[in-house]
Amino acid sequence: MNILVVGSGGREHALAWRLAQSSRIARVYVAPGNAGTQAEKNLVNVPITDIKLLIEFVRREAIVFTVIGPEAPLAAGIVDQFRAAGLKVFGPTQAAAQLEASKDFAKAFMVQHGIPTAAYRSFSDVVAAHAWLDTQQAPIVVKADGLAAGKGVVVAQTMAEAHAAVDAMLQDNQLGQAGARVVIEEFLTGEEASFMVMCDGEHVLPLATSQDHKRIGDGDTGENTGGMGAYSPAPVITPEVHARALREVIMPVMLGMKQAGTPYTGFLYAGLMIDAQGGIRVLEFNCRMGDPETQPIMMRMKSDLVTLIEHALDGTLDKVEVEWDRRAALGVVLAAQGYPMLPRTGDVVEALPVDREDMHIFHAGTRWQDKKLLTSGGRVLCVTALGDSVKLAQRLAYDVAENVHFLGKQMRHDIGYRAIDRKKLV
Ligand code: AMP
Ligand code: GLY
Repeated sequence: MNILVVGSGGREHALAWRLAQSSRIARVYVAPGNAGTQAEKNLVNVPITDIKLLIEFVRREAIVFTVIGPEAPLAAGIVDQFRAAGLKVFGPTQAAAQLEASKDFAKAFMVQHGIPTAAYRSFSDVVAAHAWLDTQQAPIVVKADGLAAGKGVVVAQTMAEAHAAVDAMLQDNQLGQAGARVVIEEFLTGEEASFMVMCDGEHVLPLATSQDHKRIGDGDTGENTGGMGAYSPAPVITPEVHARALREVIMPVMLGMKQAGTPYTGFLYAGLMIDAQGGIRVLEFNCRMGDPETQPIMMRMKSDLVTLIEHALDGTLDKVEVEWDRRAALGVVLAAQGYPMLPRTGDVVEALPVDREDMHIFHAGTRWQDKKLLTSGGRVLCVTALGDSVKLAQRLAYDVAENVHFLGKQMRHDIGYRAIDRKKLV
C-alpha cells in the first residue's frame, strides 16, 4: 500500500523513513519533503502543500492513510478537511490542536482539568500587561499566544526584558497575530524532558522518552531554537515520573478533550519540567511529534509504525505495544549560519557519508540543484546514531557530524550531556 506524510523537516524524514521499513508499504509519499526524502528508497516527494490539492492527490493515488507532521497544517484544520472528504488521517482536529496553537487555550484547559503547570495570567491589553508585570519579579516568562515557530517565548531575566517582550508582542506586533495576546507565567526550574504519546481519541500509547536541547549554544546558552539535538531515552523520566506524566497530564487531556466533544487523536507532546522531587509541570503542549526528538525516537522504534498508526485510526491503541531498541539514540543538528534569527541558505553540503544500521542522517533544510546538495533552511541536517549508551551514541554521532561540511555550519558539542552527567553521579 501507499501512504502519505505531510511536511518537509527532519521529523518527517524520520517518520517517512521508519514507515517505509514496513513490509506492507510500497511507497511513502512526502509532501513536499526535502533532499533527504527525495534520495531515500521507497520515498517519493510530492510538490504539494495546498490542502485541497493534497486531498485530490490522495484520492487519485488511492493513498491508504496520511500522517501529518507539522503544527501549521494541523492548526489550519487539515485533519477536519481530510475527514470531511472521507479520508483516513492521523493527527488532531483543529479544535484539539489548539492545545499547541493557543497557549491561552492550553493554560485555561490545564487549569480546568487540574493539570500541573506554571501559574499564569493572560493579556491582550498592553497597559494591563505592564501593570501586572509591575507586581511581579524576575525571572519571569512571556509567551506569545499563537504559533511563532519557536520565537514566541521570552524567558526574561530582568523586569526590563519582560516589559520589552510585552511591548514587542502587544504594541509593536512583531509576531503579528500570534503575539496579539500574551501569556505571562511563573518561571520554573528543574530539568526538561519531552513526553510523547499516540492517541486514538480514547486510548494512549506512550512512545520512548527523549530530551531536546533548545538553546543554540553549548551548556544551554544563547537563543532559543527549534532544537539543536536530542536523545532517547531520557533518564530524568524515571518509571515514577513516567507514571505521573500519564496520570497527571496525558489522561486528563484525553478525558478533558473527550468531554469537550473534541476527542484527541494523533501524536501528543507534553514538554515537562521535572523538579528534584520528581514533581512535574507542563511547559507546553505540542499537537505533533517533536523535532529533533523524532529522529532518535524513530531510530529506536522496532515495531511496525504502519501497524501502530492503523491501530490509532481504528481506536485500538490499547491492543498494541511498542518495541524499542535497547540502545540509546542521539541526534546532533547541523544548522545554517545565522540560525535561528536569519539563517543563510544556498550553501553547498559536501558529500555525505553513507547511512548505516546505527547511523542515519536525516535531512531538514536541504534541496537538490544540478546534482548538488544545498542548504535551504535553518536546521539543515540531523546526524542520528545508536549506541550501547548515550555516551557511545554521542561519540558516533559527533564522529560523523564533525566531518560533514558546509559553509557556516553551526552545531552544539554537548548534546546528551545531562544524561551522561547523571550516569557519572550514580
Ligand atoms: P515553550 O515553547 O513553551 O516550551 O517554551 C520554550 C522554552 O522556554 C522551554 O523549552 C523552556 O526552556 C523555556 N520555558 C518555557 N516556559 C517556561 C517556564 N515557565 N519556566 C522556565 N522556562 C520556561
Ligand atoms: N523540539 C521541540 C519541538 O519540537 O517543539
